[in-house]
Amino acid sequence: MASPLAPETEWVRVRASGKINLALRVGAVRPNGYHPLATVFQSVSLFDEIGVRWADPGCFTVKVTGEQADQVPQDERNLAVKAAQLLADHYGAGRFGAEIAIRKTIPVAGGMAGGSADAAGALLACSVLWDLDTAPDELRSFGARLGADVPFQLMGGTALGTGRGDELVPVLSRGSYHWVLALSADELSTPAVFRRFDALNPDAPEDLPMPNDVMNALVGGDAAALGDALVNDLEPAATAMRPSLTRILETGTDLGALGAIVSGAGPTCAFLATNEEAAVDLSVQLSSLGLCRAVRRVTGPVPGARLITT
Ligand code: C5P
Repeated sequence: MASPLAPETEWVRVRASGKINLALRVGAVRPNGYHPLATVFQSVSLFDEIGVRWADPGCFTVKVTGEQADQVPQDERNLAVKAAQLLADHYGAGRFGAEIAIRKTIPVAGGMAGGSADAAGALLACSVLWDLDTAPDELRSFGARLGADVPFQLMGGTALGTGRGDELVPVLSRGSYHWVLALSADELSTPAVFRRFDALNPDAPEDLPMPNDVMNALVGGDAAALGDALVNDLEPAATAMRPSLTRILETGTDLGALGAIVSGAGPTCAFLATNEEAAVDLSVQLSSLGLCRAVRRVTGPVPGARLITT
């Protein structure tokens, strides 16, 4: 059964962005193993590309290329495959299958929700491939079943996330922000960073402070105020597990960044620059020091997972 939108041989392609957390307040772990969050997400211009095309019913495959592709599972453990299977199980009654191709640029297990971006991309792409006409909020609720960050990776832009980070409200953000990212050679496990957070914070609060400083800075388009307001409760846990991150953060600050923060559970570090020129300078200097695997310059906010139309 071929969709009128996508004949059997044609790829449906989606571009999905990475995210950083401008604020990440974390509360005491709940019995379900998740932590309550009050977080401000921003999508940034580092993109994975997810392509899907028809495969035999019940057949789901994935091929991953690009940066760190060897660190991504290429079977049913891949979150994009789970996303396709979830939609197929719900709508397909055994009719659907998908061949998935992912080209990676977002760091793997880097604190930028790259796996969640791929799942978001697969949800959107399969919904178009199979002509399902799934509403955006319905796709987001499928996303929430796959992972806490998937709903934001569908939505993109700038948003306040509460609950597990999956209850979203768009946040007004003026202007475009210039970021320099220091990418790490190896990964940090998100559950392990949360466990270290628990050990470091036996009295973590039930009620979380709202990240008002960050939201006010965004409304005002004030990069300097945003740099001062950046906050990540997981940062002490991430730096305890990877002490070299402290030096990277300090170096970026010494080189003139308006703010420096570990992205999510890390180990990617994000530096806010005054403008594009300052971001170029900072990225050149950080690269030359050889403290990290790679340095990338990005801007935010950008859209979340979106169809690539040719
Ligand atoms: O939802 P997702 O599978 O992406 O989360 C990965 C892990 O991160 C969870 O298993 C949990 O250990 C941790 N996590 C958490 N609290 C959240 C989000 C994630 O403890 N709000």
